Amino acid sequence: MTGLLVRRVAGALGAEITGVDLAKDLADHAVIAAIRSALVEHQVVFFRDQQLTAAEQVRFGARFGPLNVHPYVSGMPGQPEVMEIIKEPEDRINFGGGWHSDMSFLEKPAIGSILYAVEVPEFGGDTLFASQAAAYDALSPGLKKALEGLNAVHSASREYSSSGHSAQKRAGMQVAEADGYVGEFMHPMVLTHPESGRKALYVNPAFTLRIEGWKTTESKALLDYLFNHCRYEGFTCRFTWRNGSIAFWDNRSVWHFALNDYSGQRRHMRRVTVDPPHEAVAQDGRSVAAAVSATEPASDRLAVGAARRDRAAGPNDGVSRPGEGQHV
Ligand code: SIN
Repeated sequence: MTGLLVRRVAGALGAEITGVDLAKDLADHAVIAAIRSALVEHQVVFFRDQQLTAAEQVRFGARFGPLNVHPYVSGMPGQPEVMEIIKEPEDRINFGGGWHSDMSFLEKPAIGSILYAVEVPEFGGDTLFASQAAAYDALSPGLKKALEGLNAVHSASREYSSSGHSAQKRAGMQVAEADGYVGEFMHPMVLTHPESGRKALYVNPAFTLRIEGWKTTESKALLDYLFNHCRYEGFTCRFTWRNGSIAFWDNRSVWHFALNDYSGQRRHMRRVTVDPPHEAVAQDGRSVAAAVSATEPASDRLAVGAARRDRAAGPNDGVSRPGEGQHV
């Protein structure tokens, strides 16, 4: 037992983890394994009242895989893996203010993102999360079958072009515009999570351009249908930040949306983004769907495996009910 308590916050996804001081416990293999296990099960996990320096956030993130250096957003001086997501009071446009999965525009998209709140507005600035596994589960058997084997094309070309939402000028951030051809990468429209085995839809309105081999009009019709379906309120949870809060989400099965409802106030977050393990990247360069997390020390892998076996063996069915947490 690690002393961690995992308590679900919504029906579709999301759990708050208490009983951990990430700055102190980030070297503890059992704690990291328990967090990884909770993330796989709940898709997004939340922590409160943490105090992490940028260097500690890097060390924490690195326990889950290699860290991404964003191709368009400048990192912190000397710490390129740390993106500062800042909206100054005079900024109009926020960063991440639309439904998306981080980095799906890359050949090897990020598997996780860890966002730490440095300074939050007095009100507003919540982040919404939507379970794409729940969205997949809710589809009809016929549509699920139709989606199997389909690939979608993702690119940064729209979001990071001069007119794109992500590339807009903000006082506190340096974001480069995608200049010329930035690449298009195909990923399966349905991903099977390498650790949970659960299927999830993997398309998003920000970075998915079209379905491979389909006419634009056909593609648009199906993608528009899916984009509407995927943000249904029943698939979501909402996180209200406080200074020192952390959200850690699994980009393989979660969309997120940063609300921009705090005009005239400052919001300052720091993000590290976890890439798939280098050694497990698919050789065909088309997808990371099969990437298996293999970067944790062997003891972490064993702990995760043991936790899964324990859950499977019961008597705890792994489902926490209202008012009840799960000690891990
Ligand atoms: C992001 O898209 O990573 C930013 C989310 C947020 O600031 O809430």
